[in-house]
Amino acid sequence: MNLELIIFSILLSFINADCGGEFKIVCYFSSWTGIHPEAKNCTHIVYTFARIEDDNTLTGVWNNPLKEFKANKDPDLKVFLAVGGQDYAIRRANEMMSKDEFRQKFVISTTKLLRTHEFDGIDLNFEPSEALGPPSTPNPQLIEDKKRFSVLCKDLQEEYAEEAGRTGRTRLLLTITISGIKKQLESRFELDELAKCADWLNVQTYDYRGSRDKIAEHHSALMPAAGATDDDKDLNQDSAIKYIISTGIEPSKLLLGLPTFGKKFRLTSDLHDLGSPATSVGSVPYTELCRNTMSGWQRVFLDDRKVPIMIKGDEVIGYDDLQSMELKINYAKEQRLGGIVIYPVNYDDSAGQLCNQGKFPIVSLVKELTSNYTVSCLPLTTPPLNTTTAPKNRTKNITPKWKIPRTEYLGTNLGLNRPHRRVYNSVSVVRSIYIIQYLLFSFLFLLV
Ligand SMILES: *[C@@H]1O[C@H](CO)[C@@H](O)[C@H](O)[C@H]1NC(C)=O
Ligand SMILES: *[C@@H]1O[C@H](CO)[C@@H](O)[C@H](O)[C@H]1NC(C)=O
Ligand SMILES: *[C@@H]1O[C@H](CO)[C@@H](O)[C@H](O)[C@H]1NC(C)=O
Ligand SMILES: *[C@@H]1O[C@H](CO)[C@@H](O)[C@H](O)[C@H]1NC(C)=O
Repeated sequence: MNLELIIFSILLSFINADCGGEFKIVCYFSSWTGIHPEAKNCTHIVYTFARIEDDNTLTGVWNNPLKEFKANKDPDLKVFLAVGGQDYAIRRANEMMSKDEFRQKFVISTTKLLRTHEFDGIDLNFEPSEALGPPSTPNPQLIEDKKRFSVLCKDLQEEYAEEAGRTGRTRLLLTITISGIKKQLESRFELDELAKCADWLNVQTYDYRGSRDKIAEHHSALMPAAGATDDDKDLNQDSAIKYIISTGIEPSKLLLGLPTFGKKFRLTSDLHDLGSPATSVGSVPYTELCRNTMSGWQRVFLDDRKVPIMIKGDEVIGYDDLQSMELKINYAKEQRLGGIVIYPVNYDDSAGQLCNQGKFPIVSLVKELTSNYTVSCLPLTTPPLNTTTAPKNRTKNITPKWKIPRTEYLGTNLGLNRPHRRVYNSVSVVRSIYIIQYLLFSFLFLLV
């Protein structure tokens, strides 16, 4: 290999530590249901949730399925332990980060726990979620101080690098689950700092709607609703991803959250429309949604938001099926993201008997669409995503009997055809600087 090429590769490796690699399929597992040993298409498993004790050490409660799973797992499959998840844990995390000595004790305890139980890394998930575990309180505790959070991230990074150097073991991985809402991203995270210390960031691109809202809306829309205004414009996956990339974060550092559950709302007035007054009735797992399809719910695909809803009487469920998931996976590829986080994989149809779509239809779909794909290092110049992809007969499209103005549903073909070039500018500039640097290097070598 030519020397300049080597130098160029080294330079490239500094610019794009994550691109050029395998597309990650990260599967979140909630611990109380046990891990299904056949989740073989996941590249990473995240086991939930470890706790921060009152003495600021990390502890976890895990059951035999995890041991069994690890004993039988593919050696390439990496297993993470997630900490956080619920309001109580987030309150504890705030306390832990409030003092240097608390934080240092925590950091060291993570290495011990991860190594003792043979985990490959940790995921800091201080995002309240309504999907896993007991329902959240209406006003969940959030990370109070974003600077402290960055310090924790840097301390963990240093600890794991030091430990790997000292012991000769593979370095422990560190990921962070961040909000998918622009306002929260601005106020609660130093994204540039977190992108430096974490191996990647899982974006919680779901739970956009829930019990905090008093209206019926889709909780994981890919695109904004036609005519959405103000903050509502930001409550979707595309807005979150575009916003994060616009801050200069390398897209390959981001993983798109793919929920395996829908959120059900009960309408509380005579208005039967999205945006109408409603109360949240909780989450519905994917496996149950397949049965709902079979028992007379009406499915409507929202052309603006690029996701389906189901309607029956005064109830409406915003959810994802294989059609919208396919659009989201393709979106992740188009945006050069590093992978997908399936949240949680417990709700996939592990035995293939509930949905008649084979075993693990969701994980398999991600695998199928990304099997020969490596995360691209090239700037975004490809044509926009073709959103007119015909659904593969996976579910029927039924015209709703709802009082929804037609334009609301079957609006214009929004969003995915917009050019993305503008948001990529800062990254292109960085890349140009490196290319100039490479040319200078080559020139120097010619001189020598
Ligand atoms: C893995 O994904 C492939 C491709 O989609 C699929 O054919 C296979 O059944 C999946 N395997 C498991 C164990 O889910
Ligand atoms: C993907 O790779 C496999 C094995 O390398 C190959 O057999 C298959 O044809 C490839 N599929 C596509 C769609 O390129
Ligand atoms: C988009 O996909 C559809 C369905 O696969 C196809 O009929 C159509 O020609 C495609 N459009 C473009 C512009 O590629
Ligand atoms: C899809 O539906 C059409 C019409 O209903 C049918 O002719 C075709 O065989 C179906 N394709 C698959 C793959 O099921």
